[in-house]
Order: sequence, then C-alpha cells, then structure tokens
Amino acid sequence: MSTVGIDQIGVYTPAQYIETTELAKRRQVDPNKYTIGIGQNQMAVPNPTTDIVSMGANAARTFLSKVDVSQIGLLVVGTESGIDQSKASALFIKSILNLPNQLRAFEVKEACFGATAGVMMAQDYVKTHPGKTALVIASDISRYGLNTGGEVTQGAGAVAMLISEKPRIVEFLPESASYSDDVNDFWRPNYSETAFVDGKYSTEKYLEFFTHTFDDYLKQTQLKVTDFAALTYHLPFTKMGIKAQRLALENQDEATKTRLTAQFEASSKYCRQIGNLYTGSLYLSLVSLLHQGNLNSGDLIGFYSYGSGSVAEFFAGRLVAGYQNEIATNHMQDFLASRQKLSIDEYEAIYTECGKVKTDDYELTPEAVISDGEVYFAGVKDHLRQYKVKGA
Ligand code: CAA
Repeated sequence: MSTVGIDQIGVYTPAQYIETTELAKRRQVDPNKYTIGIGQNQMAVPNPTTDIVSMGANAARTFLSKVDVSQIGLLVVGTESGIDQSKASALFIKSILNLPNQLRAFEVKEACFGATAGVMMAQDYVKTHPGKTALVIASDISRYGLNTGGEVTQGAGAVAMLISEKPRIVEFLPESASYSDDVNDFWRPNYSETAFVDGKYSTEKYLEFFTHTFDDYLKQTQLKVTDFAALTYHLPFTKMGIKAQRLALENQDEATKTRLTAQFEASSKYCRQIGNLYTGSLYLSLVSLLHQGNLNSGDLIGFYSYGSGSVAEFFAGRLVAGYQNEIATNHMQDFLASRQKLSIDEYEAIYTECGKVKTDDYELTPEAVISDGEVYFAGVKDHLRQYKVKGA
C-alpha cells in the first residue's frame, strides 16, 4: 500500500509581538489569568504589509528549493481571513511562487478546519495521481478586537505543507474520524471585521467533538491511548488543548500520563509565543512538537482538528526515519527570540491601522516591511492587491 504524508513543513509568523502580562496590566486583569488561566505568554502582531497571501507564500518559500515544483498539481489554501470574496488567495500565491499553470488552485473555508480539509483532499489527490504532490497552506490573522475577552487569544501566521507519496516527515495512517454539526460558537458575518464568538460554548463544543472523534478513531483502528507518543491539538490558546488532553488521559497509567503531558508541553510552546493561527494552529503544534519534543522515528502522533461551526477530525501519522534532517529546529527558536517587542500603545496603533478599510489606491514600500520573509503586501492598484518580493 502506498504511503502518503507530510514531506515538508514550513512556518511564517510576524516579526513583532507583545507580552500578554503587559496587555493584562493595561486591561486591568491579573496577568496570571492570561499566562496560566488562558495559557498565553506572547502574541504575534501582524503589520499592514502582512496578509494571508504574504504569510502563506513566505511559509512555503522556507522549503520550496528542496522540492520539485513542477510536480505540484494541487494548491489548497485554508483560511478564514479571506482577502477577496471571489478570487482565491491560492492564485496570488501560485503567482508569487511561480508554480506551474498545470495546477488546481483554490481556497477552502470552514473556520479553523480549512487546512485539515486541504490535507485530506491532498492525500486523496496524491493517491490518485502517482508522482504528483500537493501544497496545502494554512494562513490566518486572528482578530477579536481591542479590549475584548478574546483579545489575548489573537495571533497570526501560516503553515505550509507539501503532501506527497513516500513523505520525509510524517506518514499518515489511512483511517480518520470526523464529526460535523451546525453550531453557533464562532462566526464572522461579511459586514464585520472581527469574529463573533461565544468562547465558553466553543470550548464546550471543542471538547465534545474531541470525545466523539477520538473515541471513534480508537474504535476504528483498535489503537489505545498508550500507543501514541504524542497527541497534538488545534490550539487557539493552550488552555483549550490542556482540557482536551485531560479527557484523553482519563484512566491512563502514570507512565502514559507523564509521557503525553511532556509532549503536550513541547507541542504548545510555539502557540504560547505566537497565539492563535486559526487554520494553522494544529500544524504549528506539530512543528512545535517536532522541534521541542522527545521523539523517535516510527513514533505515532495523533492530530485533533476542530473548526467552529463545527467540523472536527481525528487522524494520526508515524514519524519517518530521518525526519530530523527536514526540519530547521534552531531557525524557528532563534527567530522567536529575535522578534521586536511592541509596547501596548504601539500594538494598538498597528491594530487600528490594519483594520482600516481603504477603497482608493495606495502603496506600501519595502521600508514598511518588518518581517524575516521576503514576500509582502504592497498595497492596492485599480482594486487589485499587489504583492512584491523584497530585493527582487
Ligand atoms: N489566575 C489563574 N487563572 C485564572 C485567573 C487568575 N488570576 N483568573 C481567571 N483564571 C482562569 C479561569 O479560572 C479560567 O480557567 P478555566 O478555563 O480552566 O476555567 C480561565 O482563566 C479563563 O477565565 P474566564 O473563563 O473567566 O475568562 P474569559 O471570560 O475572559 O474567557 C476565553 C476566556 C473564553 C478564552 C476568551 O478569551 C475568549 O472568548 N477567547 C476567544 C475564544 C476562542 O479562541 N475560542 C476558540 C474558538 S475555536 C477557534 O479557534 C476558532 C475557529 O475555529 C474559528
């Protein structure tokens, strides 16, 4: 049977951030509520030259030189921060990355589940198109509004993944368990720039859907919790994953609890430093685990994906021998340590600027770019969004 999985994975996140303890002070909240109660320490702040296209392209550019671009036959972008009601962000990204025209490129929306829908489609595509690969990009800016309950759970970033036969990082197992229902926990009407969310109800549904999909998955595969080296979760904020992990660990032996708890810590480190990536959050947890966890080839990793509204899926994969050679562990840690810290005043000013709706032409120059990625949003001309590559 052919194996399909993640051959390459790359992350992009903005180069500016705030400390949640400073945000807590400004909002007159006990800092422990943010760092312990919600479980977030820092939050990435995107500036006006950053959008889902620039972030997605920058994430893919971290590994494109290592793959045969002519074999990419499918490009799916999962996002809930769309830049156009009609044209897919995937087409802007295709152009920036110089991908072949012989390509199926489109965008998928189902809240934070969009990228997982892409990963599932990509697996089917690769299985039915021998030799071809698929590029799946999760890219989002999470905005809840200044001085709202959700403010501390914002964030931004993109994760790009190449799905292929004989993958070099993770081989997916063929089974998966999904669960869908019409739920009003989080939505963003066309007229609103920020999401409407019932955070507590959303957590309740996230946990309920976890139980449905995890139990179903174990039943289908006859696997046990003890078989997993690590479980990764969609992490809008780390506390949400802690609550799901508690359910998974009920009635387990101490060794299993200790192992899975340590790996959860590793998988949630980047979320604590970056915040919510919406569609990319689960895959950022995987990258965090690969960089910070204690894993061996052959280890089984579980994935819990949840998108409000709501759709959830549990699936799993095994680490491929030599996966360490494919992930740039130090680069990400060095980058996070080198980001520029913003004061709360600076963050509020950037947040407000990013939220302005502009209908006339305008241009953003490379001097405005604060990023370690070279692709940036350069403004609007004749109602068309412009993208440039720094130094090109
Ligand atoms: N010290 C330590 N802990 C403290 C504390 C203190 N001083 N004060 C409070 N806490 C704890 C509370 O006990 C609570 O812990 P538990 O959850 O374990 O009970 C936690 O901190 C949060 O406290 P509250 O519930 O009182 O906080 P809140 O009313 O401000 O709500 C929130 C928190 C629900 C997370 C809110 O920030 C929110 O709505 N965030 C956005 C919601 C969100 O991200 N939902 C995910 C949606 S799914 C997704 O990602 C979207 C998608 O698909 C599109």
